[in-house]
Formats: sequence, structure tokens, C-alpha cells
Amino acid sequence: MAAQSRAVASDMAIRRSIGGIDSPEALARALRDAQYLADEGIATAAYLALALGKPLLLEGAPGVGKTEAAKAIAAVLGRELVRLQAYEGIDAAAAMYEWNFPRQMLAIRQAGDAYVNLYGDEFLIARPLLLALQRPKERVLLIDEIDRSDHEFEAFLLEFLSDFSLSIPERGTIRASEAPVVVLTSNRTRELHEALRRRCVYHWIGYPEPQLEAQIVLMRASAVARETAQKVVAAVGRLRAEPLAKPPGVAETVEWAEAATLLNAQGAPWPAAFARAIGVVLKDQDDLAFIAPRLDHILKGAA
Ligand SMILES: Nc1ncnc2c1ncn2[C@@H]1O[C@H](COP(=O)(O)OP(=O)(O)OP(=O)(O)O)[C@@H](O)[C@H]1O
Ligand SMILES: [Mg+2]
Repeated sequence: MAAQSRAVASDMAIRRSIGGIDSPEALARALRDAQYLADEGIATAAYLALALGKPLLLEGAPGVGKTEAAKAIAAVLGRELVRLQAYEGIDAAAAMYEWNFPRQMLAIRQAGDAYVNLYGDEFLIARPLLLALQRPKERVLLIDEIDRSDHEFEAFLLEFLSDFSLSIPERGTIRASEAPVVVLTSNRTRELHEALRRRCVYHWIGYPEPQLEAQIVLMRASAVARETAQKVVAAVGRLRAEPLAKPPGVAETVEWAEAATLLNAQGAPWPAAFARAIGVVLKDQDDLAFIAPRLDHILKGAA
């Protein structure tokens, strides 16, 4: 019995270390070097996904750093990021592979009576899923905004994510030599299927703690004073507490800090510089109209 459970455990191919990363803390440090500040939750989920060879599913509001996390993980591992942007109506061909039909036609014409292998590599156009399977050690697959695709596509992905293989009728089954690193993101515009979630390590990225968000601003924006970063983060926090249609993400915080700093350098006093740059942080007419009479409260202390 014990021998049997040992065998099962080794089948799971746990890798303690991948690319020299052997703990959540080591991953967080490496991500920081790649300009991504991960809190303990995301660093742990990402490390476990890497160690267990499972896809990492990141859900969260717009602009909280989901796509950027995938880019930073690829940078840390020194791998190429292959991105599949999901959309309504996306089909297997766009995700897997296509045959280069015009090239096949040309080859037939040029060959005359000679034999042409129409299903050779030169006619195969690999799309992101196939690219990831072909070189799992060199690539990171990002399936971005999976919630935009429809249920059929999600069902198709299930198979891919369970055994990391694809079947090309003319060529047979292509299987990855090891589990590729896969990151999926979702803005949760719809519920993802339970079966898809079960195959992944899941993490919900919330808005960062104020201290972390201020550090992100200082890291990502150019020439923003520490004090300005803290004020912007406080103001954005108050905006997020309002019932807005489109609450600002971290990207907006960074841009607001940058924009207000620019206007201030050109002579706009504080906090007017923040107020004038409001279009950088709120991008919805109803939200702007709602916030206008409350702006003094939002910018409280930003003088
Ligand atoms: N933890 C972080 N460390 C460093 N920068 C971050 C972090 N989180 C967010 N950012 C900044 O916010 C920007 C937006 O992040 P990103 O595009 O990854 O968001 P997203 O969650 O994918 O948004 P969307 O749902 O709109 O695609 C990044 O370009 C980066 O500047
Ligand atoms: Mg994104």
C-alpha cells in the first residue's frame, strides 16, 4: 500500500525547483527583479503551480496585474511568453494550428507530377497551444482573458490542460515532453467551468495593500516622489470604496501618479494637479459625473 502511494506521488512529477526557484520567497525575490511585486498569496500560488506542473489561474478585477504576472514569470524563468488572447468565437484553429493552404496549393502546382507531402512542417502554422507543446522548456503559455471565450472553447481547453497533448489528424498526437508552464487569466465576466478550475492552482488577485501599491507606483512610474505615490494610493483607495462602474486598477494608480507629477512640474499646484488628471484614473462618463462633487473628499490630504 505504502509502495503504491509512493508510486502515485512520483507520477505527479513534483519539481521542487524550476529555473533555480525553490520556494515562494525565492520566486517573490526573482519577480521583484523582473519589476513585479508579488504579495505572499500570489507568490505561493505561482510557486506551487510551477512545482506541481499545473496551470495557474489568476482571476481579478481589471488592471490588478494578472497579465503582467504571466510576463514576469516568463522573464524569471528566462522563457519566451506565448500569448493566446481569448475572445468571443475563438476556435481551435486560432489556438492550436492551421495548415497553410495557399502554400500547399503552390507546392502542388510547382511539383507537377512529383509527390508532395502536404502535411510537412513547412505547411504547418503553429498557434500558441502547439508552440507551447513543441518547446515546453523554452516557453510560457499565457491564455489571457479566458472568460471572453465561449463554453465550447473552454471545454476544448480542458483536454489540453489535463494531458498536454494535441491531436493533429494528419500527423498524429503531439505530446509535451514535460508539463508546460501555463498561466490563465480571467476578469470574471462570467463563471468559469468547475472542471477547468479543478485542473489549476487558483489565485484571486485583489487590490494590493496600500503600502505595496505605493511601492508598485515607485517602481513603475518614472520620477514620482514617495509622498505623491502615497497620496495617490490613498485617493485611489477612496475611489475604490465608491460604487463605481469601473473602479481604477493598479495601472490607473501608476498613471495618475505620473500624470499629476507631470502637471505639477508644469506649474499646477497640489491637489489641483490630481484633479486635472482625473481622466487618467476614471474612464467612464457616469463615474466622472458621480465623483465630481466628491472630488474634494477623494483628494483629502492630497495637498
Ligand atoms: N504587482 C505588480 N507589480 C508591478 N506592477 C504591477 C503590479 N500589478 C500591476 N502592475 C502594473 O499595472 C499594470 C497593469 O497590469 P496588467 O495589465 O497585468 O493588469 P490585468 O490584471 O491584466 O488587467 P486587465 O484585466 O485589464 O487585462 C502593469 O503594466 C503594471 O504597470
Ligand atoms: Mg490583462
